[in-house]
Amino acid sequence: MPGGRSHGVHGRPAELTTDATIGGTLQKVTIRDVDVAGKRVLVRVDFNVPMEDGRIIDDTRIREAIPTIQNLVERQARVILLTHLGRPDGQVDEAYRTTPLAQRLSELIGRPVRHLDDCIGPAVEAAVKAMQDGEIVMLENVRFHPGETKNDPTFAQQLAALGDLYVNDAFGTAHRAHASTAGVAQYLPAVAGLLMEREIAMLGRIMNDPPHPLVAIIGGSKISTKIGVIRSLLRRVDRLCVGGAMACTFLKARGLEMGRSLVEDNQLEVARSLLASGGTIVLPLDAVVAHDAKPGVTSKTVPIDRVPADVKVLDVGPMTVERFLQTCDGAAAIVWNGPLGVYEVPPFDRGTDALAEGLAGSDAQTIIGGGDLVAALQKQHLAERMSFVSTGGGATLEFLEGKSLPGIAVLKEKDHA
Ligand code: 3PG
Repeated sequence: MPGGRSHGVHGRPAELTTDATIGGTLQKVTIRDVDVAGKRVLVRVDFNVPMEDGRIIDDTRIREAIPTIQNLVERQARVILLTHLGRPDGQVDEAYRTTPLAQRLSELIGRPVRHLDDCIGPAVEAAVKAMQDGEIVMLENVRFHPGETKNDPTFAQQLAALGDLYVNDAFGTAHRAHASTAGVAQYLPAVAGLLMEREIAMLGRIMNDPPHPLVAIIGGSKISTKIGVIRSLLRRVDRLCVGGAMACTFLKARGLEMGRSLVEDNQLEVARSLLASGGTIVLPLDAVVAHDAKPGVTSKTVPIDRVPADVKVLDVGPMTVERFLQTCDGAAAIVWNGPLGVYEVPPFDRGTDALAEGLAGSDAQTIIGGGDLVAALQKQHLAERMSFVSTGGGATLEFLEGKSLPGIAVLKEKDHA
């Protein structure tokens, strides 16, 4: 299972902790600190999982919320779960009902999870009122109501009326200032769930008290979407390895020809200034190139200064993987966000897989920064071999940029007196 586990078989166990006091700035009250017995506890989870034809493709986010739900059930709380699924745009959309989420949770947790057809209104209030201690209900998709994404106070109050306590365990949605992630905290005491606590501890350590040597690996296609996180990490890391299509923009900024690769010409100056800021950035030495990222296409590996004019760079080559692994050698921690190639189309997933294989045997803490990379690693069951895999996509990026996330900001701070 990804998330907060130690390496059992790969090298020495990494020092992991779930102490939310790491870094000294993000000390939030959690469910452990409050009395929940007999209380109606409104728990915002992020069960926004990938679905295909009504089937759940990946239930990681549901699994990761179980420790919180289990803890509350065992302590005799009445657990009322809230989530969004997809972007139904403020109206009921049958494809985005939370029914399959409630079913899957019930299977995983081995208890009944009653699904309700709405998340506010008299029928929901009556059902919640009838709950017994230790019972779980799952409300309907909060985004069926336009008030959710508008953070409408009336909608937030209607949600709050269902509970005595609000728990936010939806780290993946913490960057949204919506009614169920932030607004509701105006009307109820608001504390962190155990997943939220662990995400804050693991990512917060990178931000506030980074272990050294610290290496970051950044992939993905565009510098423009990751410039904030690159700048933030450059202030904290000893080395930053850059892969993915965004490396092409850095390489072009260095004067190399990148053929027909995706290069952001409007980011060349930004890339030059980042490269000028010292020897921290490590770029690819070779690349896997082809005419297009299509299955079955002929590809070859070339040195990075010999990219033919008529091809695209679609993955890093083996020399680059080796260089990145050498850079990670002896690191205390490695934080990695974004795949190194077009991982959806084999063979352009090989660089990402090879690097992950190498890191799985590392003594360092390996922290995977959510989003596309998690999907890439899950294909080969490599995600579970990392120390920590964040459940956030956009939320993780914003956290690593150093932004304040509304869903975290609203949670009660621990008393330091
Ligand atoms: C995510 O999957 O990143 C979160 O659930 C947030 O979803 P959103 O981008 O639709 O707000």
